[in-house]
Amino acid sequence: MVRTSIIAVALAAASTVIAQNCGLKSKCPKATPCCSQYGACGTGAYCLGGCDPLSSFSLDACVPAPVCKGQKFEFKNMDGITDETKYLGDSSKTDWVASGKPTIFNDNLLLTMPPDSVGTLLASSTYMWYGNVKARFKTSRGVGVVTAFILLSDVKDEIDYEFVGVDLKTAQSNFYFHGIPDYHNSQNISLTDTFSTFHTYEIQWTPDTVTWLIDGQEGRVLERKKTFNATTNQYMFPQTPARVQLSLWPGGLPTNGKGTIDWAGGLVDWTNAVDIKNNGYYYATFDWVEISCYDAGSSSLGSNKGTSYTYNNEAGTNNTVVLGDKKTVLKSLLGTGLDMDAGDSSASSSGTKPANTAGLVPGLNGADPRPGADSHESSAGSSDPSATAGASPSPTGASDGQFNQGASSSSKSGADKLAGSQEKVLKGSVFAGIVAVVAMMAL
Ligand SMILES: *[C@@H]1O[C@H](CO)[C@@H](O)[C@H](O)[C@H]1NC(C)=O
Ligand SMILES: *[C@@H]1O[C@H](CO)[C@@H](O)[C@H](O)[C@H]1NC(C)=O
Ligand SMILES: *[C@@H]1O[C@H](CO)[C@@H](O)[C@H](O)[C@H]1NC(C)=O
Repeated sequence: MVRTSIIAVALAAASTVIAQNCGLKSKCPKATPCCSQYGACGTGAYCLGGCDPLSSFSLDACVPAPVCKGQKFEFKNMDGITDETKYLGDSSKTDWVASGKPTIFNDNLLLTMPPDSVGTLLASSTYMWYGNVKARFKTSRGVGVVTAFILLSDVKDEIDYEFVGVDLKTAQSNFYFHGIPDYHNSQNISLTDTFSTFHTYEIQWTPDTVTWLIDGQEGRVLERKKTFNATTNQYMFPQTPARVQLSLWPGGLPTNGKGTIDWAGGLVDWTNAVDIKNNGYYYATFDWVEISCYDAGSSSLGSNKGTSYTYNNEAGTNNTVVLGDKKTVLKSLLGTGLDMDAGDSSASSSGTKPANTAGLVPGLNGADPRPGADSHESSAGSSDPSATAGASPSPTGASDGQFNQGASSSSKSGADKLAGSQEKVLKGSVFAGIVAVVAMMAL
């Protein structure tokens, strides 16, 4: 439950650029037409994964979303994982778009969360429109620490597994239609220790049902027909193309809403927690993730033929999703769905400096007024996390201390977000970290 809580929006004091907020009732202006997953207007990465067409300047301001691609990701190395500051939408080269500090250790992907960071988020570069997704992982642990494995669509349909680090025997399942909070939607599934034991968590999603399975055992089934809302005359059932997101984030930050902090079990201990002491960060361990696209048969509903998903109507329901052949790649972070070639470096030299540099990648310091964002900047993110992969965080807590992320946290941004004019917290979904400074764009 506790998904709903009022949050105070704290603008980072030192921010030089203040991105405009956006929501269903306050769409973005033409100059910065894209409403990011976190509810702020910009161009570039704001227009890629997570861009909300319903809150953007127009439905076509967001870059078309790459269609589903069935694949198993083994995380043997960092290939296919691209920092979000370097991603322009080419899902043929990138499987996962990352913020924060992912790293590879023992053929597993670690999502890390060093002190005073906002953790790590990986989002799939392609979208699933129904289908199955499975992940084998161990959660993090500790007060205020949240591990999540979710599907999140650009119009905020959502299917979740979430784990709070104070309860290692529970997987919390949840779902949303258009991000509308309803505490009845949450249900717990009991299991054995999620921190020390790998489990396989699966979401089977069809136009009529969502099934959560753990280690092959059905834990919960949601039927579309039970989600009908007679007032709005629609099914409040997740039904739009969604990215897979893996994340580790601090629910227990003082800047988060009280509901979120309580839900997460209290404030994160950045000093004395066992994983901070032993390894210098909290971590969640992903062995693999497997995406199987929906077999839509002859129907276009849920199909992945073609290259792109877009929306043709503000309703944002499954019958307004268009399966097409649009381009999904920007020429630079100055681009938007309205002008995909903007900032093309072959056309002009380093000349055009964007007026609003912080508005190119959501979460860059000052760009998103999100709680949890702090004001000190860092460029440490440019270092390749895989470089440290030889060392060892001991999952049992007996680390030799070698494994050092160089952690002085460059990631920032908050776990909370403001969606539309409703203030609400979308916990796991709503989170991102940013590593590098603006640098790269506009070159
Ligand atoms: C699920 O488990 C969490 C954590 O133990 C608890 O706070 C919450 O109340 C439970 N929710 C339901 C719906 O039982
Ligand atoms: C139906 O939708 C309206 C508008 O979103 C919402 O206020 C109401 O709570 C919903 N009813 C149910 C039973 O979910
Ligand atoms: C999806 O769209 C189809 C028709 O296009 C409709 O029959 C079905 O109810 C929709 N599903 C949901 C969950 O709204």
